[in-house]
Amino acid sequence: MPSEIPAQSVIHDLLGRPLGSLRVSVIDRCDLRCRYCMPEEDYDWLPKEGILSFDEIERAVRAFCQFGVRSVRLTGGEPLLRGDLPELVARLAGLPLVEDLAMTTNATQLARQAEELRRAGLQRVTISLDSLKAERFEALTGRDTHAKVLAGIRQAATVGFDAIKLNSVVMRGFNDDELVDLLEFAREVGAEVRFIEYMDVGGATHWSQGEVVSQHEILTRLAAHYGPIERETGQGAAPAARFRLEDGTRFGIVSSVTEPFCGACDRSRLTADGLWYLCLYAQQGIDLKPLLREGADRQALLERIRVGWTGRTDRSAEERAGDPERGALFQVEELQADPHREMHTRGG
Ligand code: GTP
Ligand code: 5AD
Ligand code: SF4
Repeated sequence: MPSEIPAQSVIHDLLGRPLGSLRVSVIDRCDLRCRYCMPEEDYDWLPKEGILSFDEIERAVRAFCQFGVRSVRLTGGEPLLRGDLPELVARLAGLPLVEDLAMTTNATQLARQAEELRRAGLQRVTISLDSLKAERFEALTGRDTHAKVLAGIRQAATVGFDAIKLNSVVMRGFNDDELVDLLEFAREVGAEVRFIEYMDVGGATHWSQGEVVSQHEILTRLAAHYGPIERETGQGAAPAARFRLEDGTRFGIVSSVTEPFCGACDRSRLTADGLWYLCLYAQQGIDLKPLLREGADRQALLERIRVGWTGRTDRSAEERAGDPERGALFQVEELQADPHREMHTRGG
């Protein structure tokens, strides 16, 4: 690895948004089949030979840090299905400019791996949990591993991750009667729940506006149970707005559908095979893989990132919010034609 060159200045896109956080998908495969993300049983996976090595991922992260990235999140598919993940975590945790290293996981494999990941330097985990009912979990994910997920959450708390978050995608008629139960569960395990509006991302082929439970409705329902709810200020570039109950309990809402937050979006995503997406909904990615190979020209990589970000105008969630005809972003055939359109390939 070449010695670290001094950090260059933070770069901004054409809407004045700085480059601040990078979501790194380490594998496109997943062991669940959540209906809002991967509803089919079979998928065309990215060819194994195209998957970035740890050296290549580390080179990418170092380069992004040169332009202001300080927050790195490992995603999938399901990141814990990638072999030797603690080794990658240790490498990234050791980079001087990475201040925040997190992972989003479905937690089916977390009970086994939590301790080693924590020791390797992973700071935060966010765990998907959409229901506390085992039979609902199975109906949603097609798998009967609910107990493993709950064990993973408890183990994450035991090994002492900072600020554990639980992500609950709220779907009308499916789990919208569990808002209070999920909030109570999160409180019991020392985590913060974030209710996520069901998004029309690639993969969500069953999406319909009618199934979205808005931030407004979530707040109304919680207030009916708990009393007044206060919104905290200072959301910054985070997708979740944070709220506080009267007793001090905090929770979040990611309102990407009804109150999108593109104006502050400092995020981009790297797929497991090295395509760089400037937006969750972007049609095309920028292929960084050739520039990440051993011996590739580092300046060319930096230049590709600089040109990519400084030309960025993406604000797709805001644009989609204005479309009265809004439906699923892609149909199955379109996703099959290019798996990079899938939410699970883009890392959520
Ligand atoms: P922190 O703020 O670091 O805790 O994490 P996060 O909320 O960015 O990460 P997480 O993986 O938990 O994502 C939570 C939800 O926000 C998921 O449903 C994501 O799809 C959604 N989300 C994450 N990033 C973006 C984004 O850039 N745009 C939109 N529209 N949604 C996003
Ligand atoms: N709508 C909202 N959130 C989604 N996620 C995946 N698909 C969707 C969708 N259609 C969430 C997962 C995970 C995060 C990375 O993205 O629940 O927590
Ligand atoms: Fe950022 Fe695109 Fe999400 Fe808007 S839709 S917040 S621009 S990733």
